[in-house]
Amino acid sequence: MEYRLEQKVKVVVSRELSKSILEILADRKYAKPLIVIDKFLLETPEIKKLLASLEAQKIDFVIHDEVVPDPPTSVVDHGAQIFNDNNCDCVIGIGGGSSIDSARGINIVRTFGGKISDYANGKEITERCPGLIAVPTTSGTGSELSNALIVSDETTHEKLAILSNNAVSEFAILDPVLVATLPQSMTIATGLDTFAHAAEGYTSNLSTPVLDAICEKIMYLVVKYLPKAVANGEDLEARQEMMVAAALGGWVLNNSGTHVGHSQAHVLGPIYKIPHGMACAYAMPGTLEYTAPVKPKKIREIGYILGASFPEDATDLEIGQVTAEKFKDFRDNVLGLRPFADLEVDHDDLMTNVSKVVNERFAGNAPMEIDDKLAGILLEMFG
Ligand SMILES: NC(=O)c1ccc[n+]([C@@H]2O[C@H](COP(=O)([O-])OP(=O)(O)OC[C@H]3O[C@@H](n4cnc5c(N)ncnc54)[C@H](O)[C@@H]3O)[C@@H](O)[C@H]2O)c1
Ligand SMILES: [Fe+2]
Repeated sequence: MEYRLEQKVKVVVSRELSKSILEILADRKYAKPLIVIDKFLLETPEIKKLLASLEAQKIDFVIHDEVVPDPPTSVVDHGAQIFNDNNCDCVIGIGGGSSIDSARGINIVRTFGGKISDYANGKEITERCPGLIAVPTTSGTGSELSNALIVSDETTHEKLAILSNNAVSEFAILDPVLVATLPQSMTIATGLDTFAHAAEGYTSNLSTPVLDAICEKIMYLVVKYLPKAVANGEDLEARQEMMVAAALGGWVLNNSGTHVGHSQAHVLGPIYKIPHGMACAYAMPGTLEYTAPVKPKKIREIGYILGASFPEDATDLEIGQVTAEKFKDFRDNVLGLRPFADLEVDHDDLMTNVSKVVNERFAGNAPMEIDDKLAGILLEMFG
């Protein structure tokens, strides 16, 4: 077997955002960026500082601040129109996955034309579209390195996913100072999303030895540094390590994808308004336990990374149970994720989603067959 791994995004880890952006603009001869951001982040001191330094250097930039969480397609289409109307030549996406995904969508539409929904409906992105600079302010989705963008359909509110290696960022700037303001609950949820990318990527059908090494490191970083970032949001060392973990998680997504944990999150998140990272964390114990019979060595390794110990003659079933319990301890007691019961999701209603989980696009990456019976068991364990 031959394994290949490609990484197209130039990653800059820096605590001097303005300097890094000015260097990239000068190096790439980009003269007029479109800055894609939301209204809240636009008013934060770090971003005001950035804009002031762009002005001081006489960089003629345009701001598109219509980004909202789970952005609708109009944010992308209107952004591309603003880009073209102003003759911009690159896109800087600043924010969480919502801003960076919107910026990626704008970069696609301004390069290849049409509307973003065309690309969700099969229009191909035939060549690399450079000019996207991703500046994450959360540490979770990995959008800064991933090849995915997710927008919501205006009428059905369904999530549309567009995947293309040609649309990945040209640069990702990881500046932990930007994440220091992220509220504790979002720090926990987004950090557990990163853990899920690694744990599911590690056990996916598409995993390879090179990706496995990266996934193990990501999980190790989350276990070591997420509790520190949660305890003190201004711990820049912890924030930086989590930014690195999240970005690497985006790289994993491009290659081994996720599986049935994310399938549950993708189905249940929009229906019950559960933030993505929280939904992934509620899905994780069942996913670990029921992956163990087919991937016992890997689930044992995840257990070790979480600090578990196993009886010497542990069966595959026990390995799954011990690892799932250890994850729950990390999630609920070490980090303090909001209990699922607080969300008051109706159990019977939740159980009506079995076939949606079975048919979700990433369920096919699971190393075990996801049939109605197993999906039902996983939904019973969700929470
Ligand atoms: N491209 C991918 O591979 C990928 C993967 C998973 C999810 N997603 C998408 O990403 C989006 C979720 O992204 P997210 O979880 O990063 O959150 P987000 O971008 O939706 O942001 C959520 C909220 O957090 C605020 N926020 C962001 N950074 C902050 C900071 N430093 N301080 C204070 N507040 C801050 C934002 O203003 C916003 O109100 C969804 O649309 C999801 O579908 C994309
Ligand atoms: Fe995720």
